Amino acid sequence: MDRLNVGIIGTGWCGGIRAEASAKNGLVDQLHICEIREDRLKEVADLTNPTTATTDYKELLKNDDIHAIMISTTPESTHYPIAKEALESGKHVLLEKPIARTLTEAEELITIAEKNKLQFTIGYSQRFRSKYAYVREKFLDGTLGEPVSVLITRNITQQLSKRIVGRTRLSPAAMEATHDLDYALWCLAPRKPIRVYSQQVEKVLIKNSNSADCQFIMVTLDDGTVITVGAGWVLPPSYPNYSSTKMEFIGSKGAIMVDDSHNDVTIMTGERGIEYPMSSMPGEPVAHVNAGPMAEETNNFIDAILFNKPVIVKPREAKVVMELYQAADLSAERGEPINLPMNIDPLKEEQN
Ligand SMILES: NC(=O)c1ccc[n+]([C@@H]2O[C@H](COP(=O)([O-])OP(=O)(O)OC[C@H]3O[C@@H](n4cnc5c(N)ncnc54)[C@H](O)[C@@H]3O)[C@@H](O)[C@H]2O)c1
Repeated sequence: MDRLNVGIIGTGWCGGIRAEASAKNGLVDQLHICEIREDRLKEVADLTNPTTATTDYKELLKNDDIHAIMISTTPESTHYPIAKEALESGKHVLLEKPIARTLTEAEELITIAEKNKLQFTIGYSQRFRSKYAYVREKFLDGTLGEPVSVLITRNITQQLSKRIVGRTRLSPAAMEATHDLDYALWCLAPRKPIRVYSQQVEKVLIKNSNSADCQFIMVTLDDGTVITVGAGWVLPPSYPNYSSTKMEFIGSKGAIMVDDSHNDVTIMTGERGIEYPMSSMPGEPVAHVNAGPMAEETNNFIDAILFNKPVIVKPREAKVVMELYQAADLSAERGEPINLPMNIDPLKEEQN
């Protein structure tokens, strides 16, 4: 196989970026898109000139020409059923986080992918930012020595969080800190989380939804390293930026401080005031290049299939992250530390 035929299910914000990246990728032959909102389907079709455009994702799964499917649907409860069908139809799958709603569902998807010898990866796009890859490299090549502590704070605006809390009951840990937990564990692998303590604050959003404003999570790894992640989603609408992240990585031989606040470019207009562009987490196409990591991640998935390379985000890693944020939620609910592995699936138990 020299070129890949790709299908995208759900061409909203993220799926639109993935469709555009696929359309520009010379290794992609056919692009097929699916979106239930007909106006958005047309908009993305006009941008990407796909081979087919449909509102029924089953058409993509039935199409034997399509090798790989990217699933970028919301609400998040759609991820597991669509991914399961796609993997059972023999398609390689890139699935946006979260991998599933329960650990049992996540394991089922991983097992089907393994049995059918398919590439399966989860959209933890932040791993594809160059600054982030640099930090991991400095742990791997020994520059930083033994890890001591990691501190990551990520804040996004209320415009973004309203979109998220309007469609899902998942917490800031599951929807936002998940990126940083994944990232810190990736940098510090093969160390594993053994204990987590978390607290949520409920002052702002609780008036109109049942969501917390932020969640702070302290994770102990099996070698004693401590990761602290603070994820908040109540920056005021006037904040001139989508997402702002600060990170400190301290090792026995050195430290790295990362400013990922995206305040390096400022645009001022009479209509919209001051804004820091290119500051969303997935990024966006900018003329002949791409801001942000999602296009890079999309291209990497295409390469992994065509050249039989390992995917960057292994689905079992996503399952560990899922167990960690579920434990963080349980800790916040109970007000006490939770030991890992939990050997239970709180969300599954909740649903039963
Ligand atoms: N990696 C990142 O940086 C990042 C950033 C934002 C969101 N996300 C994740 O990506 C996913 C998508 O988020 P988004 O912001 O693009 O959401 P979105 O709501 O903008 O887009 C999702 C689209 O899926 C469509 N859809 C739903 N069911 C469908 C179906 N059965 N068939 C076809 N289309 C269907 C919806 O109509 C919608 O347009 C979420 O699960 C979110 O967690 C990841």
